[in-house]
Amino acid sequence: MQVQVQAVAPAEVEADTLALPLTAEGLAETGKAIDGKLDGLLQQLLDEGELRSEPGWATVVNVRGQLPSKRIAVAGVGKTEDIDADALRTAAAAVAQEAGPYSESVAWALDPSLPLPADEQARALVEGTLLGAYDPARWKREDHEPKLATLILCGDTDVTEGVERAAAISEWVNRARDLVNSPPNEATPERLAARAAEIASEAEHVEADALGPAQIKEQGMGALAAVAQGSDVEPRLVVLRYEPPQPAKPDFVLGLVGKAITFDTGGISLKPSLHMQDMKGDMAGGAAVIEATGAIADLGLPIRVISVVAACENMPGGHAYRPGDILTAANGKTIEVTNTDAEGRLVLADALWYAREHGATHILDLATLTGAMELALGDLYAGVFANDDDWREQVVDAGEASGDHAWEFPLHPRYRRYVDSAFADLKNSSDLRQASPALAAAFLEEFAGEGPWAHADIAGPAFLERPRGDYLSQRGGTGYGVRLIVELASRLAA
Ligand code: BES
Ligand code: MN
Ligand code: ZN
Repeated sequence: MQVQVQAVAPAEVEADTLALPLTAEGLAETGKAIDGKLDGLLQQLLDEGELRSEPGWATVVNVRGQLPSKRIAVAGVGKTEDIDADALRTAAAAVAQEAGPYSESVAWALDPSLPLPADEQARALVEGTLLGAYDPARWKREDHEPKLATLILCGDTDVTEGVERAAAISEWVNRARDLVNSPPNEATPERLAARAAEIASEAEHVEADALGPAQIKEQGMGALAAVAQGSDVEPRLVVLRYEPPQPAKPDFVLGLVGKAITFDTGGISLKPSLHMQDMKGDMAGGAAVIEATGAIADLGLPIRVISVVAACENMPGGHAYRPGDILTAANGKTIEVTNTDAEGRLVLADALWYAREHGATHILDLATLTGAMELALGDLYAGVFANDDDWREQVVDAGEASGDHAWEFPLHPRYRRYVDSAFADLKNSSDLRQASPALAAAFLEEFAGEGPWAHADIAGPAFLERPRGDYLSQRGGTGYGVRLIVELASRLAA
């Protein structure tokens, strides 16, 4: 989508649809100004109950030549004192969905009477429009080319840089969604490696590499190899390195680690069949890491990055690993498998080791790791664990600022004993039906090496079973993590 800022009054802009915010208190400043040109039409609609001010509602009226724009969309943004970026994203998405099918261009009026500064309004409206217009139905045969091609923001051109940045980031988020929504017969580990190679070929300072099954074993990554062995599709350890062109912060390498189980059947500890198709989304952490690395390079952030994505399928079968197997991870620790469905922590164990081994000083991993995290937080927040309070805070703050909501969870040493094994250094799951996200984190800590490490369990927000009722109104992948990572990297680079 083309995004532009025009220093014109909303009453002068020429768009197929001009969008205006409606607060619970009534028309905002831009709405009142426009209504003057429409003989009070909007106020009349409002008085007669035809407009709604809750975020997510948008009413479109054709103004029959009374303005340079063909139509007005009045979009609810809620109570003035509660208006935040999410409310504006949601309003923008509602307009994109309502008017998008018959509008080639939408213009949004930045409104000085809203409690958010113009640059934050602009950023939220861009994200809401681009993420809200996303179509997951790429595998339908009818043409799904969206009509909406241009977004105009009416306001001061000061906001242009921020708008372009938000548009670029949103496109990277949508690329991650494409990967997550891709069916597991297409989005194989090999395909993820090819996507990483494509990013590297298009960006100047990025290199991609992918280790196949033989190299994975050679490097001693017995945990990743074990999960992968039940499947006929080959695993890949996908590696992206970004070396910025300009001087970067010395002694700092951001390590991004992603879980990419391209399909999680549970293995021998087989999952129930209902909704199993959603386990194509078990590679969402890896998808976010790959696309966010592309975004960091695209924005040219002055920070060194190494991204490591452990990609394989978790299948049952004659070659599959079993409960009872004892594996040796790349860092030498031995793991008793007690549940083959706790495969994410196994592949991450080796990926974390690889990231450290190759210079990561500060690590963030993203993984759809536990169903219990989704039970706890639903589809809005990720839970963040870390071995370093400061690093965890930086991750959570970046998430909150970016729109990828994140919440702090505890990593207490006393959780560790629940993953003690009678036979090996650790076991990969506990029969205790408690604290499974925290036990998974306690397990991962054993492989995180020296230095700050944070783990985001994104099982809830990465993949929507149903529309979320905000600007993410599509089922499937959300691209969770891309915005968080870009915000974190931007702050670290500053
Ligand atoms: N990929 C799943 C977690 C998951 C479940 C993500 C639902 C998104 C939605 C993960 O591999 C898994 O199966 N975890 C198990 C761990 C358990 C066996 C300790 C779980 O959460 O049940
Ligand atoms: Mn599993
Ligand atoms: Zn999984």
